[in-house]
Amino acid sequence: MVNAKDIPSGEKVLVTSALPYANGNIHLGHLSGAYLPADIYVRYKRLKGDDILYICGSDEHGVPITITADKEKVTPKEIIDRYHNANKNAFEKFGMSFDIYSRTSLPIHHETAQQFFKSFHDQGLLVEKKSMQFYDEKVNMFLPDRYVEGTCPRCGNEEARSDECEKCGSLYDPSELKNPKSKISGETPILKETSHWFFPLGKYQERLVKYVDEMNEKFGWKDNVLQYCKSWFNDGLKDRAVTRDLDWGVKVPLDGVDNKVLYVWFEAVLGYISATKELSLQRGEPDMWKSYWQSADTKYIAFIGKDNVVFHTIIFPAMLMAWNDANADKFVLPQNVPANEFLNFEGKKFSKSRGWGIDVDEFLNLFPADLLRYTLAANLPENKDTDFFWKEFQGRTNGELADILGNFINRTFTFAHKHFEGKVPERGKLEKIDLDMIEYLKTQPQKIADLLERYKIKDAVFEMMNLARAGNKYFNDSEPWVSSKKNKEQCATTINICLNTIYTLAEVFEPVIPFSSVKIFKMLNISPTTWEKCGNENMQAGHKLNEPEILFTKIEDKMIEEQINKLPQNDETPKEVIEEITIDDFKRVKLRVAKIIAAENVKKSDKLLKLQIDLGTEKRQLVAGIAKSYSLEELIGKKILIVANLKAAKLFGVESQGMILAVDTPEEGKVKIIEIDESINLGSTAK
Ligand code: MF3
Ligand code: ZN
Repeated sequence: MVNAKDIPSGEKVLVTSALPYANGNIHLGHLSGAYLPADIYVRYKRLKGDDILYICGSDEHGVPITITADKEKVTPKEIIDRYHNANKNAFEKFGMSFDIYSRTSLPIHHETAQQFFKSFHDQGLLVEKKSMQFYDEKVNMFLPDRYVEGTCPRCGNEEARSDECEKCGSLYDPSELKNPKSKISGETPILKETSHWFFPLGKYQERLVKYVDEMNEKFGWKDNVLQYCKSWFNDGLKDRAVTRDLDWGVKVPLDGVDNKVLYVWFEAVLGYISATKELSLQRGEPDMWKSYWQSADTKYIAFIGKDNVVFHTIIFPAMLMAWNDANADKFVLPQNVPANEFLNFEGKKFSKSRGWGIDVDEFLNLFPADLLRYTLAANLPENKDTDFFWKEFQGRTNGELADILGNFINRTFTFAHKHFEGKVPERGKLEKIDLDMIEYLKTQPQKIADLLERYKIKDAVFEMMNLARAGNKYFNDSEPWVSSKKNKEQCATTINICLNTIYTLAEVFEPVIPFSSVKIFKMLNISPTTWEKCGNENMQAGHKLNEPEILFTKIEDKMIEEQINKLPQNDETPKEVIEEITIDDFKRVKLRVAKIIAAENVKKSDKLLKLQIDLGTEKRQLVAGIAKSYSLEELIGKKILIVANLKAAKLFGVESQGMILAVDTPEEGKVKIIEIDESINLGSTAK
């Protein structure tokens, strides 16, 4: 397992976030997927003193752009200019700390992508294949995949693309698509011959499997990412077409080839490299990019959303391998690809056309960026899809940022100004409570750092807030309002340690709420140092503090209701309907007290346990999904509640006669069994 303390500061880290298409506004879902987690990681690494480069930019080619342009009857150039600028600004307002936000329409990108294509072509790697492609005779053009819609030959989805179904994830030959329609003219397109270059991905399968294995072993890849890779490897990697019949994009750099461009994914991933080149030019050090991309000691981390996994763990690495095989200047491959799942909005997918969701820019006109950053960070879809709920946003702002963090800082400052002339008071004798806090202050930042180094951003954010919780508790338990009258020395000690806690809070919270961190440092009247300095002795006795300011204003119900009311009311997608039941319905469920008398693992399942239980009058066997939450030993003897009249079922071949009641916990995948007091008789009814 990666530990922060084993990583010397100063390591060279190249971080990229997926290049968003410049054909729409950035919404909260994007932020949670590939941007906020990366920014938190990057900011932390900078505080650690690492040599960081953080690269992003607009993906400006491909059919999504031309479709948007067609719809609005404007040129693609107009679309990309509009959204590139809008997204760049929105990211800035949100506090994204990219070193550059470049764009793939720049000449340097076209050159870079063409160089790669040429290198592959010169090596004789690319296979030219003739194929049948949908062609719209009415408008005289080959139809890109997304301009054709039809019925999926595998699952019957009626909105399948020409060679790919998003619903079931299968890929097929366009000739297999049923009932194809051109999205441009609505006509049934014909299949016409064209020729394209294919990249022989299969040739790299063995090396890719090894690469993924090796990286995972050394650096711990996420389960979801490994699963995606595995399923691609199992299917067997096939040749992928890297050109398209289109006039918007990077031209195929071969004589006599017109009207063909590089497939957008084939060139977009190279956008990371060309953006770094662009940054080098801007900095007046044209070769700077090489010292990151082409230096063996660079740690390259690619942050993306789950829909981009194959491109970053398979296709891009294969392209880099192919380049490295034939060229002296060798590129590094991603060391980790911490892909996130998706964020939904109030229980449903973001949808521009249905008006479901909110753009970043719009959000930030209503609320400060740090509030959004904190709520999103505390709820990142790291292992499963999560939701943005307005109510949760209000709850986290008021109950955590304001009531815990803000309140702790505020009461400490008020005390320092009232009793110690706005200066850091000198420490006196340290009691156990003080020593414990000092120890916690030293170890907690390390715990946070370990989590961040492992890309467990959400857990890290939880631990950051725990530090503020601990500060508040220390303040309460120390009762400075009592000691200020009875024992001034003890009061001084408390406030000194609280101020040092605030310093450390400002430092560890900086990656998540950078704007507030600046304010806190200003209140402390001190400059941030480095992450390693977090701890208890940054605020020296006698140091003059500034006046406190309110860090987080609470959000009133009214503001939240207004936002909820703005959402389309007659939305057609099914809401999660909670059906009402009567008391008689409920009474049909027989809840009984039982005791666990034996527990063992269910073969081939890491989630299920086989339990023997005693209901007083009879014994039964249950299967419960609690293996990740409890060890076998700790279950024995527990008194629990079960649904006693649930129809028996087989799980993994094991019979289960009833169901144990448990509740979700904040920790993903973990549940807590509802436990019944020892004094209650077995077989008792819950009602
Ligand atoms: N534009 C793509 C998307 O929004 C992501 C491209 S990532 C890159 O899904 F690596 F190809 F740039
Ligand atoms: Zn399908």
